[in-house]
Amino acid sequence: MKSAKVSEEFAAKFVAEKETPYTRWVRDEGLEIISSFYVPDLHAVELKPWARRGGRAVFLNHDASRTSNDCYVCEIPAGKSLAPQRQLYEEMIYVLDGRGSTAVWNKAGKRISFEWKAGAIFAVPLNAWHQHFNGSGRDPARYVAVTNAPVIINAFGDLDFVFNTDHDFKERFDGEPEYFANKGEQKGLLLDTNFVADAVNLPLFAAKERGAGGGHTRFSMAKGSMNSHISQFPVGTYKKAHAHGPGAHVIVLSGEGFSLMWPEGEEPKRYDWREGAMIVPPNLWFHQHFNTGTTPARYLAFKAEGVAIRNAQGVPKAWISRRLGGDQIDYADERLEIRAWFSEALAKHGLKPNMEQAYEAEGKQGQTTF
Ligand SMILES: [Fe+2]
Repeated sequence: MKSAKVSEEFAAKFVAEKETPYTRWVRDEGLEIISSFYVPDLHAVELKPWARRGGRAVFLNHDASRTSNDCYVCEIPAGKSLAPQRQLYEEMIYVLDGRGSTAVWNKAGKRISFEWKAGAIFAVPLNAWHQHFNGSGRDPARYVAVTNAPVIINAFGDLDFVFNTDHDFKERFDGEPEYFANKGEQKGLLLDTNFVADAVNLPLFAAKERGAGGGHTRFSMAKGSMNSHISQFPVGTYKKAHAHGPGAHVIVLSGEGFSLMWPEGEEPKRYDWREGAMIVPPNLWFHQHFNTGTTPARYLAFKAEGVAIRNAQGVPKAWISRRLGGDQIDYADERLEIRAWFSEALAKHGLKPNMEQAYEAEGKQGQTTF
């Protein structure tokens, strides 16, 4: 794969632009940024003590998403809590291991708390004080979070302002008692909620536009600008390849399979996954997800709006056929080897592809019929 690497002399001309207030902040916190777009197991990724929060953590970011949004994995020690914090950036959380609770309150003193366990997702309301408690005295609790800290920290460059601003965004959160209730209202493909107790088993809405009988539910939690979605696809199927902007953090919730990723014009590379893996497709790389296991495969994508490149109607181009000017490759236009690789991987489980219906559903223009 071409790395776009240049000479040290050439790189030196841009050295002052490589560091940002955000990367300096992570370093000053005593933490590392793992620059990877593939993490095989978030449960096992190594963490370091994080004095500010009182837990252990690591940041995970590829160069392509470091200025749009970021990701960190954090562990709350058994029987302990993290230090309370408020922040001018948004944060979405998926609980990987353990159980616990979170208290959220504002300057006005309105306070609520809610419980969570592995499989829960929620978001921290903008600049609300929040504190996470481990509910077990025996086992650590671990979560993965995606935030827009790089945008905010780089825009202001003033950590005191980012972490100590005394302002309640009351439109976002005002101590509503049901704020983190496990319920939501459906608006198209969007589920209007701030808390999902069990993302692994949440019933999804049907979405055939992405291929092969998929389920899809979108979230916009805590009235934030960052969004997320859960996608599921059946046994023996794979999704259509597509490309979009940087910063989609794809976390595998269940199932087994692999993803192919490639920049335009290059050979696809294979990344195997199962529950707990994370893939962050780099900017405009094509990527395609294959279920090779014996159960449906489900993933959660935490994103920032910069991921979506939209057409004039507001539809993400990753949902629209390349034949129509979009960024999704139709099954009819994909490389034939892809189907052979998929069949081989399925055969290891004694399974066969179940794609005929999906191939037939593609209309003449390639777009799967709506
Ligand atoms: Fe994608």
